[in-house]
Amino acid sequence: MISLFSLLAFSLPAIAAFVHPGALHTTKDLVRIKSHVVNEDEPWSTTWTLLTSSSFARAAYVPTPQKTVYRGYNGVNAENYQYLYRDAAAAYQLALRWLISGDTSYADAAVNILSSWAVTLTAISGTSDRYLASGLYGYQMANAAELMRSYSGWASSNKTATTKMLTNIFAPMNTVFLEDHDGKGDYIFYANWDQCNIASLLAIGIFTDNQTMFDYAIDYARSGPANGALPVFDIANYAEAGSGKTLTQGQEAGRDQGHATLDIMLLGVIAQQAYNQGIDLFATYKNEILNAAEYVGKYNVGYSVPYTPYESYEGDQTVISATSRGNIRPGFELISAHYGQLKRLNSSWSDAYRDMVNANSTSGVEGGGGNYATTSGGFDSLGFGTLVYRLS
Ligand SMILES: *[C@@H]1O[C@H](CO)[C@@H](O)[C@H](O)[C@H]1NC(C)=O
Ligand SMILES: *[C@@H]1O[C@H](CO)[C@@H](O)[C@H](O)[C@H]1NC(C)=O
Ligand SMILES: *[C@@H]1O[C@H](CO)[C@@H](O)[C@H](O)[C@H]1NC(C)=O
Ligand SMILES: *[C@@H]1O[C@H](CO)[C@@H](O)[C@H](O)[C@H]1NC(C)=O
Repeated sequence: MISLFSLLAFSLPAIAAFVHPGALHTTKDLVRIKSHVVNEDEPWSTTWTLLTSSSFARAAYVPTPQKTVYRGYNGVNAENYQYLYRDAAAAYQLALRWLISGDTSYADAAVNILSSWAVTLTAISGTSDRYLASGLYGYQMANAAELMRSYSGWASSNKTATTKMLTNIFAPMNTVFLEDHDGKGDYIFYANWDQCNIASLLAIGIFTDNQTMFDYAIDYARSGPANGALPVFDIANYAEAGSGKTLTQGQEAGRDQGHATLDIMLLGVIAQQAYNQGIDLFATYKNEILNAAEYVGKYNVGYSVPYTPYESYEGDQTVISATSRGNIRPGFELISAHYGQLKRLNSSWSDAYRDMVNANSTSGVEGGGGNYATTSGGFDSLGFGTLVYRLS
């Protein structure tokens, strides 16, 4: 007798098609977001107002594509990567603005940014920092492209050029970095370097329907050899007295809190993109990402957390770093939405950090590129999580 399982296994195609849009946001998300905006529900409405007043979300936005992007001063070429992070933030914000308002002037501005870069960019260079550019702006540009995928006004030649830019310039750098870490070994680079490059491969894999690329990035997140992969990122686990929670000390706890919070933002991006394609990295290793977020959240809102010394390339990290403790960084709306609101798990410390970040802004909500630092750190996250992720 033939089991139902074998019948199904036989009749399903070997490679399931990707969901589109399906990087950070799905159609279902966009319907929910739009409904909150139309009904003027709070806090979504305030976040929408913040987005529509952003100088990056204007239909008249003019991109400044570069032939070569430099991140990290190599002794010859001045850094110019700010043009890329500003334009990536703008492309994403304009794409959202189009999808929510229906006004195609924003769609035209978004595809103009993507297409202008696609026909101009030939390389990303600089120091090792070029791999931060390939990772951070790779996932951001690919997310903007994924949101614009269905726009009929995007000329197919330009869409193809964008696919080529992402596949031929960003993705190979993402893969090379994860494979050989600029020739310096798996141990040297802190977690965020791997994480932004994993996030980029996932987003590009989704936009370009490349299952091989997507699967590679999922495998790397689950079982890669270097600091950004979930098993290596997990330095130590602690049972929190009273709550039954696990707090997970991540790989940048002894470095500084700016990077420790950045790691959580990036892990959120990785897991959200995977989740939208049916793979639950949020749940992987007993909710490791939540446990790591809770540790970071608790320490950054002012409570002490346990700590285990570990080795980094800078030597023994003997104490938790208080450098930039309480720094203001978007990204925890996604964590709280998924774990606290969707899965109904206790995300109280992530919620507390999210609330602290939001309280720091005059709008009281999570903004995006342009609402935080004008330097690169203010553009690491696409942001606007109070609008795009919050469920309740
Ligand atoms: C491709 O994009 C560029 C930059 O936005 C634009 O100038 C050009 O007209 C586009 N090509 C087509 C065929 O629409
Ligand atoms: C898909 O991704 C793999 C791995 O990154 C790459 O080698 C291959 O060229 C990509 N395929 C296409 C059609 O771009
Ligand atoms: C959630 O965890 C916090 C501490 O991490 C605890 O104070 C709180 O009581 C917990 N909430 C619930 C509903 O269990
Ligand atoms: C946000 O935080 C910064 C630095 O901690 C502080 O200077 C600023 O006043 C805060 N802004 C608000 C609106 O709370």
